[in-house]
Amino acid sequence: MAHLFTPFTVGSLELKNRIVMAPMCQYSVTAKDGKPNDWHYTHYTSRAIGGAALVIIEMTDVEPDGRISDFDLGLWSDDHIAPFARIVDACHGYGAKIGVQIAHAGRKAEDAATPVAPSAIAFEGPQYKVPRELSTDEVKRMVERFGQAAKRAVAAGFDTIELHGAHGYLIHQFQSPVTNRRSDEYGQDLARFGVEVIQAVKSEMPSNMPLLIRISAVEYVDGGYGIDHAIELCRRYREAGVDVVHVSSGGEGRPGKRKPGNYPGYQVPFARQIKEALDVPVIAVGMLDEYALAESVIASGDADLVAIGRGLLRDPYWPIHAAQALGVELNVPKQYARAF
Ligand SMILES: Cc1cc2nc3c(=O)[nH]c(=O)nc-3n(C[C@H](O)[C@H](O)[C@H](O)COP(=O)(O)O)c2cc1C
Repeated sequence: MAHLFTPFTVGSLELKNRIVMAPMCQYSVTAKDGKPNDWHYTHYTSRAIGGAALVIIEMTDVEPDGRISDFDLGLWSDDHIAPFARIVDACHGYGAKIGVQIAHAGRKAEDAATPVAPSAIAFEGPQYKVPRELSTDEVKRMVERFGQAAKRAVAAGFDTIELHGAHGYLIHQFQSPVTNRRSDEYGQDLARFGVEVIQAVKSEMPSNMPLLIRISAVEYVDGGYGIDHAIELCRRYREAGVDVVHVSSGGEGRPGKRKPGNYPGYQVPFARQIKEALDVPVIAVGMLDEYALAESVIASGDADLVAIGRGLLRDPYWPIHAAQALGVELNVPKQYARAF
């Protein structure tokens, strides 16, 4: 039996294999109202049919100005619950569990008239505006928005929630000495915003529903943080209630002296380091779509789960093809049985 196709359980989340669909923005909300439409329904349901154990819906924002673009998903009102529930029900019908990545783009909100951020420091690039620094009261209200979005995610029937604490978006902006120059409590303690968001979100989730957080394990900009800082952040997040860490890297700006590897499995060592330091389940991600490599990441114990991004865009049936390559018999949808 390939390790990739063994079940994995964390809290109430029972996964039939170790394959996670990585969250990937589709920029396809043509109505600009934050609600998933037929594209999202078809896209996510196809990956459930394709055999992924856990589908994570793309970055879904807690307020309209928290979107990267006006074409992104949101969970800022109760009207959003029903169209998400439709996708949740469909994925469940095809045997997958489903989560949603809750987020705010902060200074990387490109279509906001004035984006907000921990400090008034712009992201490099012509499409980025100088953000307005959030007041301390506004930060507290932002924490509440994450809680409200989580409440709606639970109402929509999601099995888990992932917080986007990576790739230079708002939670990451608070975590980083490069983007957080505040003098209040949210600047003196770089983990504080994330910790409060985790507590707010957890308080809206059933007690046994696991919370995931995606984190950038290292920053690549000069002056950015390294793995030791990420481990300390994760330690605080774990204490606050995080159950699984999804380990990515970068996204905060143009790489300086430290460069992302960009070769198969280049982020796996970060996942292993966080797992070993904190004894926490981890998801590894990043160029893991060679079947033998994905299998080895699980077999070696480097990570508990692997997330596949672009591999699943290219091939919704990536899990079925992986099973074939690894000699595992998988239940192919009966409609497609003659093809595999
Ligand atoms: C089209 C696209 C959209 C993405 N959107 C998100 C996102 O919404 N949230 C996120 O955390 N990462 C996002 N990512 C990063 C992926 O989740 C993943 O970490 C990255 O693609 C590396 O994995 P891969 O090599 O398997 O594609 C996106 C990547 C792509 C290609």
